[in-house]
Order: sequence, then C-alpha cells, then structure tokens
Amino acid sequence: MPMFKATRLERRIAFAPFLAAMLILGGLWGRARADDAEKWKESSRLYDTYCAQCHGMGRNGKGINARSMPVQPRDHADAKGMGAIPDAEIIKAITDGGLSVNKSVLMPAWGKVLSRQQILDLAAYLRHVCKCGTASAR
Ligand code: HEC
Repeated sequence: MPMFKATRLERRIAFAPFLAAMLILGGLWGRARADDAEKWKESSRLYDTYCAQCHGMGRNGKGINARSMPVQPRDHADAKGMGAIPDAEIIKAITDGGLSVNKSVLMPAWGKVLSRQQILDLAAYLRHVCKCGTASAR
C-alpha cells in the first residue's frame, strides 16, 4: 500500500484552517474578556466611590473605616458568606440600608444616592466579586 507522504506545502495547507480557528477563538476570547471588564467598569467605579471606605478597595471588608467600626463591614469577596445572602436581601440592604434587613445601621442606605439600575448593577457586580452566584438559585 503506497504511503501518502505530505509535502511541506501540503502540511502547511492542512495546518492553515487550524491556525485560523485558533486566531478567531483567541480574538473572541480577548473580546469577551474586554466586554467583561467593560461590563463591570461602572459598578466598580461606584464601589470605589461609595463602598470601598468601609468594604475595602480589596472588596474584603477591610476599608479604612472598618478598624473603628463595632460591626465589621461584609467581606464581599467571601464566597461562602455572600453566597448565603439572597439577591433580594443584597438589593434591599443597598437600597434601604442595613437596618432594613435586620443588619447593622452602620451599613448606609443608598436608595436616594444611586439609581435603581445602579443598585441592581452593583448587586450583580457583588456576585461577580464573590464568584458565588445567586443564593436564590440554589
Ligand atoms: C459606612 C460604612 C459602609 C459603607 C460606606 C457601605 N457599607 Fe455595606 N456594610 C457596612 C456594614 C458595617 C455591613 C455589615 C452589616 C452587618 O453585618 O450587620 C455592611 C453590609 C453590607 C452588605 C451585606 C448585607 C447583608 O444582608 O448581610 C452589602 C450587600 C453591602 N454592605 C453593600 C454595600 C454597598 C454596595 C455599598 C456601596 C454602595 C456599601 N455597602 C457601603 C458598612 C458600609
């Protein structure tokens, strides 16, 4: 049985679609990551402005105010702790403050500062930060 021996050119031609596919996939992946960063940019900026002084630039509950606070701000990067809080409670806590969800009054209400959409986006952003999905979906 005669063996087919690919010439260099033939091998290159065979490789081309693979290379093209990798380039396209790589491009899509890069674009998806850029979209992701873009998607969280506004919420991340709001967080830095309104939340980080208590919840920390590292989103870990260790903002500059935290040291002097009798109740520690929630660690938003803690998947277990955040995963236990349903979306509705997160949204209510941000909108109407800690007291409204039987938590500390030290967590301020943001419903008059931020729009409803900004609050919903922040709640989604917190899920992204904790990498913990929605508690209600469990
Ligand atoms: C003045 C300090 C302070 C600021 C500013 C602040 N928080 Fe808080 N936050 C707290 C404290 C303290 C707690 C913990 C309350 C408790 O466990 O009783 C908390 C808890 C939370 C919780 C958890 C609520 C729950 O049901 O357990 C969420 C979500 C939250 N904050 C989001 C935010 C967001 C978003 C912002 C910015 C828009 C923000 N916080 C700004 C102090 C603050």
